[in-house]
Amino acid sequence: MTSLVGVEQTRGALTGPQLTPRTAVVWSVLRRELDRRAGESLTVLDVGGGTGGFAVPLADAGHRVTVVDASPDALAALTRRAAEAGVAGRVRAVQGDGDALAGLVEPGSVDLVLCHAVLEVVDDPTAVVGALVDALRPGGAASVLVAGRAAAVLSRAMNGHLDVAAALLADPDTHAGPRDTLRRRYDAASAGALLAGGGLTVESVHGVRVFADLIPAVAVDGDPTTLLELELAAAARPPYRDLAAQLHLFARRPA
Ligand SMILES: C[S@@+](CC[C@H](N)C(=O)[O-])C[C@H]1O[C@@H](n2cnc3c(N)ncnc32)[C@H](O)[C@@H]1O
Repeated sequence: MTSLVGVEQTRGALTGPQLTPRTAVVWSVLRRELDRRAGESLTVLDVGGGTGGFAVPLADAGHRVTVVDASPDALAALTRRAAEAGVAGRVRAVQGDGDALAGLVEPGSVDLVLCHAVLEVVDDPTAVVGALVDALRPGGAASVLVAGRAAAVLSRAMNGHLDVAAALLADPDTHAGPRDTLRRRYDAASAGALLAGGGLTVESVHGVRVFADLIPAVAVDGDPTTLLELELAAAARPPYRDLAAQLHLFARRPA
């Protein structure tokens, strides 16, 4: 079991990131890698990085970040956000596809690749993982966030959508049909197998939002710091980890 550091330690040298139930566990894991490489300006690639929620704080911490995203609107918002934060010089926004990174990023050049909330929406997750691995230098690390299987079934059932819960449970990809916005969901074993199949060594698996989506909003708003500490305390511990809305895997390309 990998225990995570608390909220204040998670902030560390990263002055920018807002810690929320969506981000605190991921920043806590990334913080370790950034501390391990302290003093270096890392080459970071954020595939499907959207509007730069991770890219901008990483650039603010001195790293050079390329965001490859399919959406021009998301990249425009990223560019504005980077300019407002004064880090435009360290953020490169590239429109492109996650499974065709070779023409956009020098193969074997990336220290840290992020791929958050992307593998559940792309056509071919195996191809995207292969492209991530090719972009990484040997010894480089990958931060991968995927939608969780069990949480999707439980939330539909708890909201009374028993037919959708049953459809999700029965489908091998945990996909509920044409109206489902996600094409697939993962558990720790299937996500780990996807990354291992691409040649990555999985170092840790954590749950993100174990409790946040289950408790009343008033409890979240009333004591956000205690909720974050609870999320950090439960994130590495099955069965709590496996009930999380998302699973975060930290993996490495062997040196
Ligand atoms: C749910 S958002 C996640 C954004 C960000 N990574 C985060 O965690 O907040 C998914 C992002 O992936 C991008 N995307 C979807 N398919 C893609 C693909 N095949 N290649 C690159 N980006 C893609 C979308 O444009 C969107 O910005």
